[in-house]
Amino acid sequence: MGRAKITIVGAGNVGATCAHWCAAAELGDVVLVDIPATESMPKGKALDLMQASPIVGFDANIVGCTDYGPTAGSDVVVVTAGIARKPGMSRDDLLATNAKIVTSVAENIKATSPGAVVIVVSNPLDAMVQQVFKVTGFPASRVCGQAGVLDTARYRTFLAMELGVSVEDVSALLMGGHGDTMVPMPSCTSVGGIPIRRLLSEDKLNAIVDRARNGGAEIVSLLKTGSAYYAPAAATAQMVEAVVRDKKRLIPAAAYCDKEYGVGGYYVGVPVIMGAQGVEKVVELKLDAEEQAAFDKSVAAVKSLVKTMDELMAKAA
Ligand code: APR
Repeated sequence: MGRAKITIVGAGNVGATCAHWCAAAELGDVVLVDIPATESMPKGKALDLMQASPIVGFDANIVGCTDYGPTAGSDVVVVTAGIARKPGMSRDDLLATNAKIVTSVAENIKATSPGAVVIVVSNPLDAMVQQVFKVTGFPASRVCGQAGVLDTARYRTFLAMELGVSVEDVSALLMGGHGDTMVPMPSCTSVGGIPIRRLLSEDKLNAIVDRARNGGAEIVSLLKTGSAYYAPAAATAQMVEAVVRDKKRLIPAAAYCDKEYGVGGYYVGVPVIMGAQGVEKVVELKLDAEEQAAFDKSVAAVKSLVKTMDELMAKAA
């Protein structure tokens, strides 16, 4: 069996770091694509990364390019293309710009890798993944978004820091959209098998959930320029691994939910089983009243984001 072919669109911080994690874990050969304006930059990053392989000890072909030719027939495509919000730019400006970018990316993926599983990372995530689904016309199982693995990893990190235990022993789940309205699930959080509420007070737990919710903003304010990329890229590589190794991981992802959770045709963060076919199953949990209320609020926020995007796209057309 040959190696998997992994294309990463956007050779910026998240894209290049994701290429690094994927190559180091020998998940497959990697193609880094960016826009022509970046000229030889993707080639430079790819060659640099390849030259780490004899030292670290991985076999992977890594190429960089500014056209989709070398990406043809990819098994997995990761979308990190986009721009970060610049000073003076409104959220709607960012939404419209990135929606245009992911639309063109999705058209290219459709034309060159029609059998790929697509993992969207560009923000605002819940709207971008919906747009990629719409434009590619791929089955919903083959289009998903990375948000939950990252949000949950932040939450797990803070829990481990608070309790002074290994991050490996912290198992958790967060649901809903990426950002302000993410839904904490204390009933699905445990440490070494012990339910979290037996180890932490409600107040402490809420403070940690809040920190996880604002995890992206905290990094932005520390970095001053740009946004988080190590953890977002690692989270994405975990999803790539689930596909190329057919792992059947049970992880949170932005997945298309129609009847599931009564969402009605939108992408929201839910637990899924990820394997070679992409999102092979949305795992439906019975939510308690508090979780349901938070989830409903989150879904409403996602719907309104998508509505704004659709209006902006219609205006621009
Ligand atoms: N096709 C391919 N690449 C593109 C396109 C396009 N149409 N438009 C922009 N890009 C590229 C840029 O040239 C840049 O190299 O996407 C890259 C984005 O990289 P960064 O600016 O470093 O941004 P990064 O930190 O990687 O974040 C990328 O992921 O987590 C999200 O919020 C984040 O939406 C952002 C995305």
